[in-house]
Amino acid sequence: MAARFIVLATAASAIVSAALVVSSARADQQELKLVTPPLSMFRDQIRPPADTLPVPTGFSREQIVHGDRVFHGEAANGQCSVCHGIDGKGTPNGNDLTAGMFVWSDGSVKELKRTVLHNMSVAPRMDGDLTPDDVDAVSAYVWAISHRSASQ
Ligand code: HEC
Repeated sequence: MAARFIVLATAASAIVSAALVVSSARADQQELKLVTPPLSMFRDQIRPPADTLPVPTGFSREQIVHGDRVFHGEAANGQCSVCHGIDGKGTPNGNDLTAGMFVWSDGSVKELKRTVLHNMSVAPRMDGDLTPDDVDAVSAYVWAISHRSASQ
């Protein structure tokens, strides 16, 4: 009886100490996360110039200018720059949209529009008050910032 108790007690304490090791490792990770600032803090986030960005075929300069305002929260309560950065180059909460490489599409305005709509549906309360025209404009804007030449 006593021997059985000792075996049980030893097993229990082994489990408790294993759990402690795991939880202290987690605590370290948590701490690391808290003390490591997001890289987006270390760069000057310069807003791309909407008046000189390239305009995709079938869209107008006005749409790029409007898309820029939506992206930066100046129209339709858009929140894009909160997650994707003022320069569109990304934050820990949203990826870089300027590299010309997209995870979810081929980067055409049509496909970008599809991912923007999907993205907004998975970010409740961050989706602004975008009308279909606003979505067209902001998708054309994302195309524009992803097709910027080095001189712009
Ligand atoms: C709450 C944060 C957040 C907001 C607000 C937000 N996004 Fe995103 N967006 C993300 C994240 C995170 C991803 C990556 C999702 C993934 O890869 O599954 C993403 C992905 C995308 C993609 C696809 C990128 C790719 O590589 O294919 C586009 C385009 C995009 N967002 C545009 C926008 C636009 C335009 C707005 C504003 C109307 C917007 N996003 C608002 C967080 C956000």
